[in-house]
Amino acid sequence: MRAIVGTSVEEAVRWLRQGEPVALPTETVYGLAAPLSKESAIRKIYAYKQRPAHNPLIVHVLGVESLQAIAEVTPLVQRLAERFWPGPLTFVLKKKPSVPDIVTAGQASVAVRCPSSPIFRDVLTAIQEPLVAPSANRFQQVSPTTAAHVMNNMGDVLSYILDGGACPLGLESTIVSLLDECRPMLLRDGPISWEVLQDFLKIPVGRSNAVVAEKMPHLAPGLYKRHYSPKTPLYWVDCLSTFAPSSDEERKIFQEQSVHVFLFPPLRSLQPCERVLSPWGNLEEAAANLFACLQALDEEHWRSIWIESAPQQGLGRAINDRLSRAAYVDLRKNQCP
Ligand code: TXA
Ligand code: MG
Repeated sequence: MRAIVGTSVEEAVRWLRQGEPVALPTETVYGLAAPLSKESAIRKIYAYKQRPAHNPLIVHVLGVESLQAIAEVTPLVQRLAERFWPGPLTFVLKKKPSVPDIVTAGQASVAVRCPSSPIFRDVLTAIQEPLVAPSANRFQQVSPTTAAHVMNNMGDVLSYILDGGACPLGLESTIVSLLDECRPMLLRDGPISWEVLQDFLKIPVGRSNAVVAEKMPHLAPGLYKRHYSPKTPLYWVDCLSTFAPSSDEERKIFQEQSVHVFLFPPLRSLQPCERVLSPWGNLEEAAANLFACLQALDEEHWRSIWIESAPQQGLGRAINDRLSRAAYVDLRKNQCP
């Protein structure tokens, strides 16, 4: 099967009603969607992605009104939804029995978000029920931010890819667990930063990192240490302009057929083997371009990719989180927590 790439919401809805998962754009990354009520279609999502059955999916809703049927809505959830929905913030909440086990991997909690992408919302409105959607990539590979990425990675198994252009944010949603009202826990850094959440809530927000997640899979299932990996080995350094290889072998890898990815433009002209994530010098642009850059470099057949860290604050945390999971070798000296 070779997927059709089109711009018709009606066509997408037709496939979904027939029980066939469809790739849809969100403001973060492309998702692979199926209706909450269609278990057979949800099963196909796991199969197409080659995703382990213990890794639960995010349910996408039009607004807080649709949440009542799915999860327990507390005053804290209400407050956060009023401020950040629609947008890239996913809540982990106590689930209601209406949510099938296949969505939550048998857990008592469910992850829910309300996307702001107009085209995704058009599909939600037309289908009149929530859609479950993980990112539309094969397990542990780089998330897609364009319809062409989805086509490259999964076009062989999908029927329809709804093309809504490039995803403006480019990184997956922030995930916060609200299972303990008194102690919200950030499970995945994303476009809504830990600092912004704490400022708004005025209470401490805990953080789960990849190490914790691997030791306690029930807390943050699916937050694997290795994830988002390009096929080309990726070396992660503090700062490319000051990086000095520590051995002849390292120097060889650094210099031979390698591509160097700067966060912001260096103070000199670029070499053919150099790229910049944000020509304008801001983290939003760097985040929006990160996955697209990794996907493009994989196609260019370099022997290695060398990329530098973002400052460990705000959106920089989400960029570093994705880099930490994509890295084949971590050569940073100023390792951030
Ligand atoms: O921006 C996004 O969130 C994108 C778009 C498509 O909405 N979706 C996305 O889905 O990134 P996915 O499946 O690639 O990542 C969802 C993460 C996984 O790590 C999963 O384990 C976690 O959310 N998750 C889902 N349900 C959970 C739950 N009940 N408790 C803890 N973590 C959960
Ligand atoms: Mg994913």
